[in-house]
Amino acid sequence: MTAFVPLSDAFAADPYPSYAALREQEGLHYYKDFDVWLVSRFAEVQAIAMDKRLVRSLDGLVPPDEIAAQKRAGNWHDMPHHARFVQFSMLDSDGPVHDRLRAQVFKLFTPVMVDGLRSSIEATIDRLMDELADRREVDFIEDLAARVPGHIIGRLLGVPDQDCPKLRRWSEDIVQYFDIDRSDARKALAEAATTEFYDYLCRLKAEKRRQPQPDLISALIAAEQAGHLTEDEFISTCMLILMAGHGSTIDVLGSGLHALLRFPDQMARLRAEPGLIRTAVPEMFRFESPLPFFHRYATAETMIAGHTFPRGTKFGLLYGAANRDPAQFDQPDRFEVGRHPNRHLAFGGGAHFCLGNHLARLDMEVIFSSLLRRFPRIELVEPPIYKRGLSVRGPKSLRIAVAGL
Ligand code: HEM
Repeated sequence: MTAFVPLSDAFAADPYPSYAALREQEGLHYYKDFDVWLVSRFAEVQAIAMDKRLVRSLDGLVPPDEIAAQKRAGNWHDMPHHARFVQFSMLDSDGPVHDRLRAQVFKLFTPVMVDGLRSSIEATIDRLMDELADRREVDFIEDLAARVPGHIIGRLLGVPDQDCPKLRRWSEDIVQYFDIDRSDARKALAEAATTEFYDYLCRLKAEKRRQPQPDLISALIAAEQAGHLTEDEFISTCMLILMAGHGSTIDVLGSGLHALLRFPDQMARLRAEPGLIRTAVPEMFRFESPLPFFHRYATAETMIAGHTFPRGTKFGLLYGAANRDPAQFDQPDRFEVGRHPNRHLAFGGGAHFCLGNHLARLDMEVIFSSLLRRFPRIELVEPPIYKRGLSVRGPKSLRIAVAGL
């Protein structure tokens, strides 16, 4: 097989030929740079995600000094706040700890609860669309997509509107450090953002303790007071919710619009049948999964695709590759707004299945419905450049020419 180089510009431009080659090679590939076995076929990726014997955290699997050595090797050490609140979270815990943390916020993410945010999401989008109405050309990422999720997640958490722009900077500075560039400069930014966010959450918590509101922070305060989570877990849960949902929503908004522009027949179909937004949005997640790679460790000897792997093996679940597997999806490289059924893995599966999936879908439905209604003409000004890396997928910018009603 041709070399698998996920940090290259060619992979950023189009990772799907590389994913197809991986799937054809028994769907398994050892990627030395990350010391990980990449799994690319839908059936195996789904099976691993659903299997509780495959976990997110190395705790208990290898001795603590080995974990510390691995952190040093990844320049993931000497970051006191980052270590306390970002490196530990619900997402990186397993078993009873994970179940306890997830239970504290689960009920706030149900479809009914999320639908309660609809009118506030619509108002935010309407205001942003009004600002675009007189423009001929916009960068869809900077002028619209990047301005949405910070506000929505801020509302959910209970952050006052005027503070929401800060959430965006904190989230970007923290999340960028998960990716390719692990320089000391980026490390300092990630630690500083974690510290500022921590201080901010402590102040907000003190206010909400005096005056509880119907929001996530107040619910978590009550859970902490009832002894269901510790002070550090309170902070790490708030941070995770912001980080998990911020960049991913921006990325899929960009790639979703780019898909509509690359498949004009599908854009025309969605304009003609607006009700198809319910299937178009899941298709955007399948077609360009914004978080294409997550890891698991084997807690016992594990058999994958006929091969046996020892306890402690690290697997990379390529959700982005699984979602283009022809064994699961008819014509997987075709973007079909009416695709149904569409059981994609963009939100993972099993114990860590994305908590924010209803919210992410609602944001997308509101934005795309409004965009298509308000702008009868939307054209690409230049082909977008996609971000480099294995863990994220989305355009850096998306310049479009628009004409309103
Ligand atoms: C917009 C696109 C989004 C995508 C593609 C996405 C994808 C994912 C995936 C794949 C996982 C599972 C990780 C794994 O398998 O190890 C996950 C977990 C999670 N997501 Fe999302 N997510 C999105 C948006 C959101 C939003 C908006 C929120 C919250 C506001 C959110 C909150 C979470 C949380 C808290 C977890 C951890 C759940 C756990 O460990 O039990 N996500 N997400």
